[in-house]
Amino acid sequence: MTEQPGTRTSMDRKMVHPQHGAEGTILDIDNFCLWYGLKQALFNNTISVEKGLVTALIGPSGCGKSTLLRSLNRMNDLIEGLHTSGEIRLDNQNIFDSHVDVIALRKRMGMVFQKPNPFPMTISDNVSYPLKIDGIRDRRILSETVEKSLQSAALWDEVKDRLKDNALGLSGGQQQRLCIARAIAADPEVLLMDEPCSALDPMATTKIEDLINELRGRYSIIIVTHNMQQAARVSDNTAFMYLGKIIEYGKTDTIFTKPRSQQTQDYVTGRFG
Ligand SMILES: Nc1ncnc2c1ncn2[C@@H]1O[C@H](COP(=O)(O)OP(=O)(O)O)[C@@H](O)[C@H]1O
Ligand SMILES: [Mg+2]
Repeated sequence: MTEQPGTRTSMDRKMVHPQHGAEGTILDIDNFCLWYGLKQALFNNTISVEKGLVTALIGPSGCGKSTLLRSLNRMNDLIEGLHTSGEIRLDNQNIFDSHVDVIALRKRMGMVFQKPNPFPMTISDNVSYPLKIDGIRDRRILSETVEKSLQSAALWDEVKDRLKDNALGLSGGQQQRLCIARAIAADPEVLLMDEPCSALDPMATTKIEDLINELRGRYSIIIVTHNMQQAARVSDNTAFMYLGKIIEYGKTDTIFTKPRSQQTQDYVTGRFG
């Protein structure tokens, strides 16, 4: 798979700074394996994720998409019996190094989940939450960050007159954009999204997809989706996973129109999954 952008094999593993797009690489997943107890869920995955672009992870249910995504900001650390091998490097630093501050790592890599999970507090308190846990109390900084983050998440106009209302009163789509605003407020480099539209109606889904397109460039976005049309609409690069292994990785166009592997072809044409 040496010809595919962003994909490294044993032949080029010695490269330390693989440069792909104009901006280079943000994340190197290098021969990464993961076990839940005795059960291996990820097998020798090696890809480089390009900075500032949108990368989609696709594949049938249970193939390991969420497991891989949760590994990237070490959300899996909390699972008992879990172990890993290989490396994941963020800006060339292995995230599993003993001196890595996991809290700081998670700030650099915000996560948005399948089901919107706003906290049961006001809209503005949701967004300023990451700053408050950092001890920031300056009201001006807090309110500026709330406004900027809500604007970035394309939610400001809808909520600016009710910032003190409970976030749980928002629609599902608004709640999901609020969660994106909260992730953005922490000033991350990477946004990890695990099927962020699967609980939303088509209109709300379109808004999130538009938002992802707007955020491109400012953040490196990795989105898990089982919706292939969505992957085709929002992503620059796509990785197809099957049974814990990235089978093929490359430009989204190529993956959907001229995949090299028969398994990818079968999946993207809807023959299984
Ligand atoms: N906490 C867990 N403990 C044990 N096995 C798990 C856990 N989470 C996921 N798995 C297993 O790992 C595999 C990959 O799951 P997952 O990453 O959720 O796939 P996907 O997101 O592609 O649907 C599945 O076989 C699933 O049952
Ligand atoms: Mg999943």
